[in-house]
Amino acid sequence: MDFVSISFFTFVLLMSNIHGPFGRMIMNTQFETDLESKGFIDEPIDPSLDIVAEIQRLKKEKNAVILAHYYQDAEIQDIADYIGDSLGLSQQAAKTDADVIVFAGVHFMAETAKILSPKKKVLLPDLKAGCSLSDSCPPHLFAKFKEQYPDHLVITYVNCTAELKALSDIVCTSSNAVQIVESLPKDQKIIFGPDRNLGDYVRKKTGRDLVLWNGACMVHEIFSQDKIADLRKQFPEAKFIAHPECEEHILATADYIGSTSGMLKYTIENPAQQFIVATESGILHQMQKASPNKLFIPAPPNNVCACNDCPHMKLNTLEKLYNCLYYGLPEVDLDPAVIERARLPIERMLEISERFGL
Ligand code: 13P
Ligand code: SF4
Repeated sequence: MDFVSISFFTFVLLMSNIHGPFGRMIMNTQFETDLESKGFIDEPIDPSLDIVAEIQRLKKEKNAVILAHYYQDAEIQDIADYIGDSLGLSQQAAKTDADVIVFAGVHFMAETAKILSPKKKVLLPDLKAGCSLSDSCPPHLFAKFKEQYPDHLVITYVNCTAELKALSDIVCTSSNAVQIVESLPKDQKIIFGPDRNLGDYVRKKTGRDLVLWNGACMVHEIFSQDKIADLRKQFPEAKFIAHPECEEHILATADYIGSTSGMLKYTIENPAQQFIVATESGILHQMQKASPNKLFIPAPPNNVCACNDCPHMKLNTLEKLYNCLYYGLPEVDLDPAVIERARLPIERMLEISERFGL
């Protein structure tokens, strides 16, 4: 909503929200409508406001922490207290002593934070920030799939709903999937879901015969092998690095495969000066910050768009983040029974990761 187009009625409501219970009731209804239809609090922000300074002030006032994934917009990464991959973010969510966690990421990440810190208020700037990979595995269908393999242990990639985690034995991320599978006895039968590309990568790395769920991420499935090959001819010195959510034929040509934090570390430690990066483009911000003199080229997708943006991750904006901190909404809440069941598989993941020094 444009600030100048704010109606007098909305202005009165805003004032009433501050000054009286009747106004607050109307305001809450307005918020409920916004959250249901839009997924975020769509209140106008004074354009003269120093939004970054205000976010910092509100953070202190509310004892809030901002956890941001590497795929967030640069301006969100720059105000975050912690920027990381899915594993790092879960570890932070489990140990923070803040009262409020503002999760600048997608819904399943905020849910994971809530499961690990159920007494804390977990806010997500836009409730509609979902995940195509998570959507590719509806829990009721997965439960049926699981029934076909009663003697299998279930490992699920963290990119799934809380309900799916509740159906799992161990959760993993792209940073620890190989180690988690390897920590199990060699004869242990395993179902791995929902990402078939990560599952296939883990299968090759470990030599285990995993039963895979056929899910995938929309961002990592669009890279063009031919265009990457052309780019490599153009930049023969460049290293090609890829996230394990990419398809097998893309991974087959990579110099390095790893999670977002693994890729970032590789670009810092490797002496190469040029890198072709096959993952969501948000990570390039930290790569460029850490190595300002190196060249980072986003791997080209199969379509005409040259951007590798995750449309879900990019739903979060600084304005939505400000409103979310200011109004304490939208909040991610979960059924306590789901929290109870989903907690153990996530804690197992954290425990195994610690054992491996991850
Ligand atoms: P990581 O940050 O764990 O590498 O995962 C990438 C991802 O797809 C998050 O949605
Ligand atoms: Fe989901 Fe893919 Fe977006 Fe990650 S990049 S949040 S896996 S859709």
